[in-house]
Amino acid sequence: MAHITAFIVAAGKGTRMKSSLPKVMHKIVHLPMIEHVALNAKSAGISDLVYILAKNHQYDAQKIAIQKEQLGTGHAVQIALQQYPTQEGKIIILYGDTPLITPSTIQKMIAALDSAPLIVLGFEPANAAQYGRLKMKDGTVSEIVEYIDANEEERNIKLCNSGVIAADAALLNKLLPKINNCNAKKEYYLTDLVALNGGAGLVIASEDEVMGVNDRAQLARAENIMQERLRKVAMENGVTMIDPSSVYLAYDTKFGRDIILEPNIYFGPNVEIEDNVEIKFSSHIEGAIICSGSRIGPFARIRPSTKIGQNSKIGNFVEVKNAKIGESVGINHLSYIGDAAIGRKTNIGAGTITCNYDGIKKSHTIIGENVFIGSNSALIAPVEIGDGALIAAGSTITHNVPANSKSFARARQENKHLY
Ligand code: UD1
Ligand code: MG
Repeated sequence: MAHITAFIVAAGKGTRMKSSLPKVMHKIVHLPMIEHVALNAKSAGISDLVYILAKNHQYDAQKIAIQKEQLGTGHAVQIALQQYPTQEGKIIILYGDTPLITPSTIQKMIAALDSAPLIVLGFEPANAAQYGRLKMKDGTVSEIVEYIDANEEERNIKLCNSGVIAADAALLNKLLPKINNCNAKKEYYLTDLVALNGGAGLVIASEDEVMGVNDRAQLARAENIMQERLRKVAMENGVTMIDPSSVYLAYDTKFGRDIILEPNIYFGPNVEIEDNVEIKFSSHIEGAIICSGSRIGPFARIRPSTKIGQNSKIGNFVEVKNAKIGESVGINHLSYIGDAAIGRKTNIGAGTITCNYDGIKKSHTIIGENVFIGSNSALIAPVEIGDGALIAAGSTITHNVPANSKSFARARQENKHLY
């Protein structure tokens, strides 16, 4: 098979985003758009990726071509070819702001190169807006006209350009230098390749795959589409969602089976939920592993570097951060557990706080197995509570508590005659 290179064109100014962050670094389902594009290319079997980036864009990749001045998409590809000469094989040009393209469409584009040396990916959006228009002649694309340069008749064309183009490398090398900037934007349009070649083959995709993200409204739409995809896959694999549209996933959320998700649940990145977990209404979870049989929420917040052991319960208004919680632990109401380890079968009473921060540094709280912490206790870190210990309700614990001991750390109640 011929060598395939993907050019990921991502140096545009992204002015419509009104952002100091490069457009392609804006995230969809917690992954920058440009990385979605790269992942999809890799899933389609392409390992040779060239990124075309702007000067100030810090990015970590093997092949990066810098486009110092944004003179247009055609110019961007030319820069890439100068820096990484590719005379043979096939090239697919992907736009960094078109992150929803699927690997199967990328493969279709490559396969279509067997019948024509230049292939355009088109679509019919509900609202054609500012997209470039595809002019057809005898079943092939004869020309792409940018919206800004199009006349009334051309603007009425429904078939639009997704931006994705596949070409034989030799043809691309030959045609690129012929592109000029005689157009409304004074840019070197990649789309001019089509007319220069006397036409191109066409592959069609759905709008949900190739919508371009140029502003925040489109970013939100792309997020929605991607969320729908992730929810569908999760449900296909054994996750029950009572109200799917209110559950927000990340690109890397991992689920086991027989998980029940109540409405209003938000997953940040790096979350793994094992089998038979139930997550109740309005919970926020990021950077955590929830082991099988556990129950989280309602109204729980699980923050990064947390592991909740099997069959544990994290109840309402409980926040857990950087904590290893053992098996069958109960933290059922109104607690903050941060920078802590809790052994198995321990019960943490309502309102218990690990006081992990003294204003300067963070310290750890270690709680053993089978411990009972009475309600409204403050555990002032660093502190260690031994296995089997009992802390009386309302205690402020400033010293370690040995195993199997009972600790009271509060003023004794006195009742006096009032009159
Ligand atoms: C482009 C297409 C248009 C298509 C639309 C689909 C051209 C001339 N127009 O328009 O036909 O309907 O995408 O979404 O290609 N970029 C660079 N360097 C530049 C200019 C752009 O790297 O000098 C990058 C951008 O970062 C972006 C991509 O190329 O990822 C497309 O640029 P953008 O300005 O968004 O083009 P559109 O106006 O959307
Ligand atoms: Mg665009």
